[in-house]
Amino acid sequence: MKSKGKPVSDEASTLLKRAYALSGAEDAQQLYRDWASTYDQHLEQDLRYIAPVLIAEMLAEAVKDRTARILDVGCGTGLVGEHLAGQGFSGIDGLDFSPEMLARAERKACYRHLVEGDLNAALDIPSQTYDGAISCGTFTHGHVQANALDEIVRVLKPSSYLACTVHRDIWHSAGFDSRIASLIKDEVIVLSRQQKAPYYEGSEADGNYCLIRKL
Ligand SMILES: C[S@@+](CC[C@H](N)C(=O)[O-])C[C@H]1O[C@@H](n2cnc3c(N)ncnc32)[C@H](O)[C@@H]1O
Repeated sequence: MKSKGKPVSDEASTLLKRAYALSGAEDAQQLYRDWASTYDQHLEQDLRYIAPVLIAEMLAEAVKDRTARILDVGCGTGLVGEHLAGQGFSGIDGLDFSPEMLARAERKACYRHLVEGDLNAALDIPSQTYDGAISCGTFTHGHVQANALDEIVRVLKPSSYLACTVHRDIWHSAGFDSRIASLIKDEVIVLSRQQKAPYYEGSEADGNYCLIRKL
């Protein structure tokens, strides 16, 4: 991440570097245990993280019904939920595997239900539950494998939308491109994909913003 303007605090930059160098699930859970209490300040103030507002706008454009049931996948402390609630959505659920991040999300009071779950495993959610899903910053280095998309698509109703970011470094290397291509055959269409878009104000080309519709 290259950011112009205000200097990034050492602590925020150290934790972001840890996030981009995770070795697996345990490492990720430890990182978010350490980061939960300062995550919002680091991301919003220090790093000027704009991805949650941009991805929330993308989903809000596609899903007109503000009572729709939306799943925020890898919701973290709830930055996306806040922006969706700001757009008028009232039926947002959040899923994450970090109890510390979920506890922070709960304080924001914008989620109907918060669920602890691992996106690298089968989700304990019935098929075709949701009218929409959203994921921001979670399809990135050492976090979630590309086949998590299958589970997310499974819990979506037909004709519903997924808006998600996928970091540019893992788009090919972690197989997100081929996973999406294989879903395209009969399960989804990709309505738009902004490539090389910023996640942070003033940064360059952090990743992809995708809008996908389940068939
Ligand atoms: C960079 S944070 C993004 C949080 C929030 N969406 C945002 O944009 O601020 C990534 C989140 O993904 C969660 N996460 C990472 N791997 C996961 C997994 N396998 N299953 C569920 N959540 C996971 C982490 O706990 C963390 O809250």
